[in-house]
Amino acid sequence: MSDTIIRPERPSGGFSPKHLTGISDLSDAELIYLLDLAQYYGRLTREGQIIPQRLACRTQVNLFLENSTRTNVSFELAGKKLGADILVLPVAASSVHKGEALRDTCQTLAAMGADAMIVRNVEHGTSAFVADALAEVHLPCSVINAGEGTRSHPTQALLDAVTMLDSLGRSAADGLSDITVAICGDVRHSRVAGSNIELLQRLGARVRCVGPAEFMPDKSAYPHIEQFTDLRQGVAACQFVMGLRIQLERMKDGPTMSAPDFHDTYGLTHETLQFAAPGAKVMHPGPMNRGVEIDGRLADDRNHSLVLDQVANGVSTRMAVLDALLTEQD
Ligand code: CP
Repeated sequence: MSDTIIRPERPSGGFSPKHLTGISDLSDAELIYLLDLAQYYGRLTREGQIIPQRLACRTQVNLFLENSTRTNVSFELAGKKLGADILVLPVAASSVHKGEALRDTCQTLAAMGADAMIVRNVEHGTSAFVADALAEVHLPCSVINAGEGTRSHPTQALLDAVTMLDSLGRSAADGLSDITVAICGDVRHSRVAGSNIELLQRLGARVRCVGPAEFMPDKSAYPHIEQFTDLRQGVAACQFVMGLRIQLERMKDGPTMSAPDFHDTYGLTHETLQFAAPGAKVMHPGPMNRGVEIDGRLADDRNHSLVLDQVANGVSTRMAVLDALLTEQD
């Protein structure tokens, strides 16, 4: 019989954000609480325990203006597990394609009674724009950034941190101050890297970027981050090695390196992990391009790969975010 799973308590000052547009919306206490709540929901789920229906009679709308598998589906599952009514807007068949302005689309959906709107878009700042557009017309709907632009994907960073903490057997309060994380590949165009760098540093981790110069971010974007163009040097002594795909859709010009050359020089393999810390784990936010930034055999090797743990934690982490933003009582 398993121990009773204790729900974490809200910070003594409460949980004040109404929206989650970025990691910086969260105070340290709120960040710790969200990670604790995500670990709590992860444990309830893994142990098959009853999930409290904390979002019964609440309505969640997923507004994904850019493609997604993991984030869209895991937000849908997260809301359903908590008892919410869910609408996933079929964007391709919607009036978005008749030229409707985003302001009108989001105000329309919120006026139908949405309590939460989960928004993905190519442009940085979309979730803040939507939050402002709803506030202007006094519609009390929480807005959650589900990935935008090249800088921000806060729920991905939260689920990645939960995955690292779980793998180390730690809680968020333990932090990651003795941990080094290598983020490898196309960091320059990655919204996942942006939010991860911000969050991991707040938990005390050292973070490195590893990849060809063309994929390194501007130094001014992340001033305290070491950059490596040599993969073996970059992963040396790292406990976590995160791969990122080449994000062709966010580049003005294509990459100078071919996919096979990229794999030969920067592909994550079992051999790469030999240069990292003993017991190092590989991570990838997905979607993966097997044989390019990561070897499929490594991705599938659950002794070394946390890829599917990240996916599973995506649901529990998004349950935590929805619960924290939409409910007021523990
Ligand atoms: N990691 C991630 O954002 O994946 P999707 O694009 O499939 O949602």
